[in-house]
Amino acid sequence: NMTKIGVFVGSLREESFSKKLANHVVNTFPAGYDAEIIGIGHLPFYNQDFDDKGNVPAEVVTFRDKVAACDAFLFVTPEYNRSIPAVLKNALDTASRPKTDSKWGGKPAAIISQSPGGLGGFGANHHIRQVLTCLNVPVLQQPEAYISNVATLLNDNGEVVNESTVEFLQHFVDQFVELLKRYV
Ligand code: FNR
Repeated sequence: NMTKIGVFVGSLREESFSKKLANHVVNTFPAGYDAEIIGIGHLPFYNQDFDDKGNVPAEVVTFRDKVAACDAFLFVTPEYNRSIPAVLKNALDTASRPKTDSKWGGKPAAIISQSPGGLGGFGANHHIRQVLTCLNVPVLQQPEAYISNVATLLNDNGEVVNESTVEFLQHFVDQFVELLKRYV
């Protein structure tokens, strides 16, 4: 009886810091929890005609099925212009429809934002909370994860090596797991 956590990365670039953090975090869950990155970069821009005209692209169907199969979600994202990247918003919108069949609702989530700069993606972190409120997704409140100066925390292989960051991320995941026990 695995608890399945869908991990969504808000950056498509190959050397993405978000992806590197996500790759670290998926390995910090205890036994019984399966955290796996679900790709979002191949999705078309959501068009309501998909649903209204009964012509849903195959990638959208598959993506919605994958979200539906999750028990919980983890978002790891950069900040784009003080908000979340469009690719992540598109993924959230895509699986939120048709209106009566959102795949997100009621399942808990946690958010990690990151930046090479000093603010840790604070704006993105809170913008996604606004969306998740609408989607009825209860979000881990504490600790908050704003990973700043991210480039200094990794080694050349893209592994998280900064000790206090490794410790913090483990604490973050442990608290997320405590939240999951209340829901899943
Ligand atoms: C950025 N970046 C950025 N950083 C930040 O801290 N706050 C911001 O508002 C923005 N805005 C922004 C907009 C756009 C269009 C780009 C491309 C970049 C910089 C961003 O944090 C940096 O490129 C990260 O490395 C992106 O995350 P990944 O791709 O490494 O996961």
